[in-house]
Amino acid sequence: MHGMDHSKAPVLEALAAYHRRGETAFTPPGHKLTRGVDPRVSAVLGEAVFLSDVLATSGLDDRTASRGILEEAQALMADAVGAEHAFFSTCGSSLSVKSAMLSVAGPHEKLLVGRDAHKAVVSGLVLSGIEPIWVDPQWDPELHLAHPPSPEAFEAAFREHPDARGALVTTPTPYGTCSDLRAIAEVCHRHGRPLIVDEAWGAHLPFHPDLPTWAMDAGADVCVTSVHKMGSGIEQASVFHLQGDLVRPEVLSSREDLLGTTSPSVLIYAALDGWRRQMVEQGREIYDDALGLAHSVRARIAEIPGLHVHGRDDFCAPGRADDMDPLQIIIDITALGTTGYAAADWLRKEHHIDLHLSDHRRISAQLTHADDGETTVTLLAALKDLSVSGPQHRRGSQSPAGAAGPVEVPSPAALRLEQVLLPRDAFFAETEQVPWQKAVGRVASEMITPYPPGIPVVLPGERMNEEVLRYLRSGVDAGMVVPDAVDSEVKSVRVVKSER
Ligand SMILES: Cc1ncc(COP(=O)(O)O)c(C=O)c1O
Repeated sequence: MHGMDHSKAPVLEALAAYHRRGETAFTPPGHKLTRGVDPRVSAVLGEAVFLSDVLATSGLDDRTASRGILEEAQALMADAVGAEHAFFSTCGSSLSVKSAMLSVAGPHEKLLVGRDAHKAVVSGLVLSGIEPIWVDPQWDPELHLAHPPSPEAFEAAFREHPDARGALVTTPTPYGTCSDLRAIAEVCHRHGRPLIVDEAWGAHLPFHPDLPTWAMDAGADVCVTSVHKMGSGIEQASVFHLQGDLVRPEVLSSREDLLGTTSPSVLIYAALDGWRRQMVEQGREIYDDALGLAHSVRARIAEIPGLHVHGRDDFCAPGRADDMDPLQIIIDITALGTTGYAAADWLRKEHHIDLHLSDHRRISAQLTHADDGETTVTLLAALKDLSVSGPQHRRGSQSPAGAAGPVEVPSPAALRLEQVLLPRDAFFAETEQVPWQKAVGRVASEMITPYPPGIPVVLPGERMNEEVLRYLRSGVDAGMVVPDAVDSEVKSVRVVKSER
């Protein structure tokens, strides 16, 4: 079990001591412990935010960081989750996952990557010049949903590309479905290569045995977590973990140094520190309760007419996912005759409920350890109302998508575009903006990513086909949000001018 004293919280304790000493800072941050803050700002944010926003060195710790406060907090985090090293990041898993990739492969080297990767991974490819060898996810053509790639798919990719430097898999997906991580780690290690797991949605997994397998327990080399997603981290709080000898800690650390900020937020560090203590001391009971709640909420939603809650029967089978996180409640609303986009907008407007994912046929509610009977009663009441008087009853609604036509969802085969150029070469190539109809057969220079969940449908260097472009166009008309494309309505697309 845990070898260290987890009642300690070095960052929180150092912050409390800083306040007790009453230090006077002639350093950033310029607000100087609230003194410079406009009262109209602190009226909304509270003074505590600014009081705890101090420099990490020459503030929380001394000029040379001689007290090793951050190191101790990171060592405690690693001990808490069974890793050899833990690194705190204040730039989200968006930064952590790039650090992990760059510690495994360099420019023009190959990395096996599940094609259902988040856009942060694609940004990492663009910045680094790594050559992605895409590994197909396990598509469910009926549900129109991708589960993480299988171990066999990674094995086949390694056989075809023995020079690949390692592999990256995303699990759990934003839909909460998981791959057989132990088997994927075995495949990688048989080939003498490291496995990176983008476990942005899995920060809670180490703390309860009934949750899906945690990457460090499965033998992965590096895993990346967003503690702000499923844990109690403040937004942007991310931790990446390391074990084994396939990736050197100093290499990983130097990649983080390359990308990270020189002004990390002590607020973020402090919340990470407190979360780790809470989880080690109380995680088991906390997730006993959360899992019990998820079980009963799932059963109650299943009783609501027109709503179908996806469970293990739908998601977990050979050729689909290996496991799932029951805290991600994915609800198919096809039977209501509206889209997930319209349903999500209606729930926010009518019930002040904010949902997590919505797509052409689904909505999802993320439960965490923070939910209880009160929040779930609100959710259930809103979903019942959605079933009875949701946007499908809007006057003038002639089609499932309301005013727009239905979303034209391509087959899995049509969704898999050919990677013609390196993402970096396509991104930095000479480009032109062409009408979407003229983009058919052209090579994209940009990412086109429905958000959430943030998995690019098109990425730089891929040759686009008509099915994918029709999907994006009809999707945007139905309510899909595509924030990263130059033309977020996808009426025109940024393409590479010349492929040579
Ligand atoms: C699978 C996955 N990886 C990485 C990220 C990036 O994480 P962050 O938002 O913490 O930067 C996300 C965010 O949604 C994600 O879903």
